[in-house]
Amino acid sequence: MNKPKNQTLDPQDWEAMRELGNQMIDDLIDYWKGIREEKIWRPIPEKVKNSLDVPIPEKGKDPTSVYEEFKETIFPYNKGNVHPRFFAWIQGTGTPMGSFADLLASGMNPNTTIGEHSAMYVDRQVVNWCKELMGFPNDASGILVSGGSMANITALTVARNAFGGGKIREKGLLENGRQLILYCSTETHACIQKAAEILGIGSQYVRKIPVNDAYEMRADLLRKQIEEDLGSELSPFAIVGTAGTVNTGAIDPLDDILEISREYNLWFHVDGAYGALAKLDLVYSDRLKAIEEADSLAFDLHKWLYVPYEVGCTLIRDAKKHRDAFANTPNYLLQESRGLSGGLDSINHYGFELSRGFKALKIWMSLKEHGREKYAQMIAQNNRQAEYLTQLVLENPNLELMAPTSMSITCFRMSPPNFSEEQIRDLNREILVRLQEEGIASPSSTILNGKYTLRIANVNQRTQFEDMDLLVREVIRIGKEIIG
Ligand SMILES: Cc1ncc(COP(=O)(O)O)c(C=O)c1O
Repeated sequence: MNKPKNQTLDPQDWEAMRELGNQMIDDLIDYWKGIREEKIWRPIPEKVKNSLDVPIPEKGKDPTSVYEEFKETIFPYNKGNVHPRFFAWIQGTGTPMGSFADLLASGMNPNTTIGEHSAMYVDRQVVNWCKELMGFPNDASGILVSGGSMANITALTVARNAFGGGKIREKGLLENGRQLILYCSTETHACIQKAAEILGIGSQYVRKIPVNDAYEMRADLLRKQIEEDLGSELSPFAIVGTAGTVNTGAIDPLDDILEISREYNLWFHVDGAYGALAKLDLVYSDRLKAIEEADSLAFDLHKWLYVPYEVGCTLIRDAKKHRDAFANTPNYLLQESRGLSGGLDSINHYGFELSRGFKALKIWMSLKEHGREKYAQMIAQNNRQAEYLTQLVLENPNLELMAPTSMSITCFRMSPPNFSEEQIRDLNREILVRLQEEGIASPSSTILNGKYTLRIANVNQRTQFEDMDLLVREVIRIGKEIIG
């Protein structure tokens, strides 16, 4: 047979590709350097949306024109979380080094799950640093996953599978005979309920314990609910305490929850997706100390370690329980003692995913670049900025603080005298949208005790204190414009 002509996806002209790559880096540097002067958000023109809704290209075109199209249709309409005044949801900024690390990681492109190669050791190194950051013991285990939601379900899977005789993996939930019960607060992130649904616990059996005025779980009501459930022949198995709730940054009484979990022999999981890293801020380290005693912890590095999306981490105190929850070795994943098939324990023994990117590299490079001390300063800075904003709100008679400020989340709204609750809601919704549409700042919103509020969540390494002055000034200006 005549051999067909070889084909490849590598460039025909390597030097042209080098030049294009250099141009991309140049453009990114200009983008980050000038981002403060840019609008935080701009609407996407219909024409652009239409260009992103077309049939699959049958034939390719040259790389430079693909990049030009990206610059025209995608780059200018970014979400904005690289901007110094992005405060919506809880979304990190990223860093240049973190982005370059991602480029290098995808250039090396190791599937980081099995085998003897450098990425496996970087992954192990980063998980060990995560343990060190969080005060987990050396012999604990951990895994890097895509984010907080995955980190939480990974931890809760271990908690579920370790429950009772540890037979759930083999026998399924029914064999256990009794209904599992999971405890969290009414302020717990929605991913915990989703996880419970996926794990076969059922949302009905997620006990959402009421919170106090500071949106922290009521430990007395937690204990009462556990007693009630035990009396009803149900099987409490785990409590989720949140270190930094998504709405207000509240910290559940972790010491009390720890004590209760020990008393009733329940798994103590901490959802620290947002706030666990506030442990590095001396103002919060004591209140977060109980994290060190948790059975498991979920936290995000794409939030408060400012690394680019996506990466979160699950830590499990008992490494055996962790491995027992996920490990299996099909014939095609045998490990050897030497060669590429040797090396460290396969990472898929510690989580659901088999294929994994080299997400550890951006954390490794970022921590090498800045060191723990600098991160501690940055996280503390965000918290102090929230306190500064809170002060501005309290000093301004047009504004109303809607929750105690905890960590770096500030909830406030414009609240003119004699306005009804509905009028205040409509006014602040309009303020929010205009702040975004005018490209000034991107807060988001939430509803606290039935009341609409603007919500400023700051895990932004580019924010300056002056941005808080500007934000307050602009909220008032826009509010007054709307009221006329
Ligand atoms: C407390 C908390 N838990 C879980 C999550 C989910 O994390 P992710 O968005 O990384 O999946 C968040 C996200 O903001 C959060 O704040």
